[in-house]
Amino acid sequence: MAEEHLTAAQQAELLQAAEEARKNAYAPYSHYQVGAALLTASGRIYTGCNIENASYGATICAERVAVAKAVSAGEKDFVALAVVADSTQPGSPCGICRQFLVEFAPQLLLIMGNLQGQVKVGRLDQYLPSAFN
Ligand code: THU
Repeated sequence: MAEEHLTAAQQAELLQAAEEARKNAYAPYSHYQVGAALLTASGRIYTGCNIENASYGATICAERVAVAKAVSAGEKDFVALAVVADSTQPGSPCGICRQFLVEFAPQLLLIMGNLQGQVKVGRLDQYLPSAFN
């Protein structure tokens, strides 16, 4: 399910949840903390933060942590995902995360923010055209 858009209040709530989750980021290598919050059709919000590893390739992004939490709780119907980082421009999900997300929600609403309060909104299919599925 993909709604056309969220209300301003829903968007703010999702961004706030992502910002809160970001505080738990484990990023001792990049020092780039990311938080994510995934809204499901049931109305629940699953959050995630990036978790790095001394073996850098074992790192998992905030977005995939949120998806893994939702799917493992039995939810696969996603409406929107907020991502927040301390970046000069609102950061968009990396390529691996886009592919991970498209599996469940090709039309997913992406709400990308930074700590300065800048927000960019888009659809996953704009960010991953001609996706492999
Ligand atoms: N990262 C995320 O968590 N999400 C993104 O969308 C981009 C990158 C993390 C991975 C790594 O821990 C750090 O940010 C730097 O790449």
